[in-house]
Amino acid sequence: MKTIFSGIQPSGTLTIGNYLGAMQHFIPLQEDHHCYYCIVDEHAVTVPQDRLELRRNIRSLAALYLASGIDPEKTTLFIQSEVPAHTQMGWIMQCISYIGELERMTQFKDKATGSKEAVSSSLLTYPPLMAADILLYKTDIVPVGDDQKQHMELTRNLAQRFNNKFNDILTVPDVSIPKSGARIMSLQDPTKKMSKSDSNEKGFISMLDEPKKIVKKVKSAVTDSEGIVKFDKENKPGVSNLITIQSACTGKSVEEIETAYEGKGYGDFKQDVADAVVSVLEPIQKRYYELIDSEKLDEILDDGADKASFAANKMLRKAKKAMGLGRVR
Ligand code: TYM
Repeated sequence: MKTIFSGIQPSGTLTIGNYLGAMQHFIPLQEDHHCYYCIVDEHAVTVPQDRLELRRNIRSLAALYLASGIDPEKTTLFIQSEVPAHTQMGWIMQCISYIGELERMTQFKDKATGSKEAVSSSLLTYPPLMAADILLYKTDIVPVGDDQKQHMELTRNLAQRFNNKFNDILTVPDVSIPKSGARIMSLQDPTKKMSKSDSNEKGFISMLDEPKKIVKKVKSAVTDSEGIVKFDKENKPGVSNLITIQSACTGKSVEEIETAYEGKGYGDFKQDVADAVVSVLEPIQKRYYELIDSEKLDEILDDGADKASFAANKMLRKAKKAMGLGRVR
């Protein structure tokens, strides 16, 4: 049975980008894979976080994973900082990473703006920690959205580098990026990725937005004045993004959607996009509110941390031994 690993940062309530690009695809994989899904809180603190808000977001993300269909009987769901092997393996990965390759990461370049005196060094060393997350579990496949491609290439390189330098113990993982929904764009600026940290709330749909709010946000999404529902990313980025969202929510193909709105304006189309999003999110929200304050959630996370620690510590011991760290007994 192949092993799956993926992680999401608890840095705000997830957007439909996170859901359609990543989380949605985690669910069916549980049936015939060994899955680890992680709340990567140590990644979230690479930028300043409010202590209480972070704690709330961690719990909220755990509840969202479960509400979306993660089954703790089949999957190990856990919080990164509760499994210390991650930062230990992260250090090992940092030791074999080069500053040059880390500085070339586009996410680092995007986030590390301004004076270097005020940029946290963890923004630079974030990808080796992500590699550690994945490599600790002999992961075969990592399902992620399109924006993680470069981090995944680095992870593969680091695994190969470690295996060549020390001992052939790490599995080189493959990345799995969905055909539809891998890059959901902002509703207000469709040339930018939809992001939970966008300062303009109208740019993203949160997984916990009420139906009314979702309809409002979709209706005010930036499109164009042509009135033709056609997929053309370059010339019609707003409309194309809405087509992608509808397609990822309903499973309909782009062609089917284009045909359905031939000769109609954007009014019906936008209403249907909003309805499609609401029908995906409504049942998730209902389960979310049942779970968020439950003791069951804590039991699941305790159990997940135990199971993940067991597997991760085994690999960490092997990696330390391969490098000559500590004593052999
Ligand atoms: P994060 O928390 O930014 O995003 C979580 C997942 O959501 C995907 N995603 C999107 N997909 C489509 N459209 C969007 N607009 C969109 N925004 C986000 C991301 O690609 C991701 O799959 N570095 C990772 C977290 C991480 C990780 C890992 C992932 C840490 N360790 C190990 C996989 C394996 C991140 O910042 O994701």
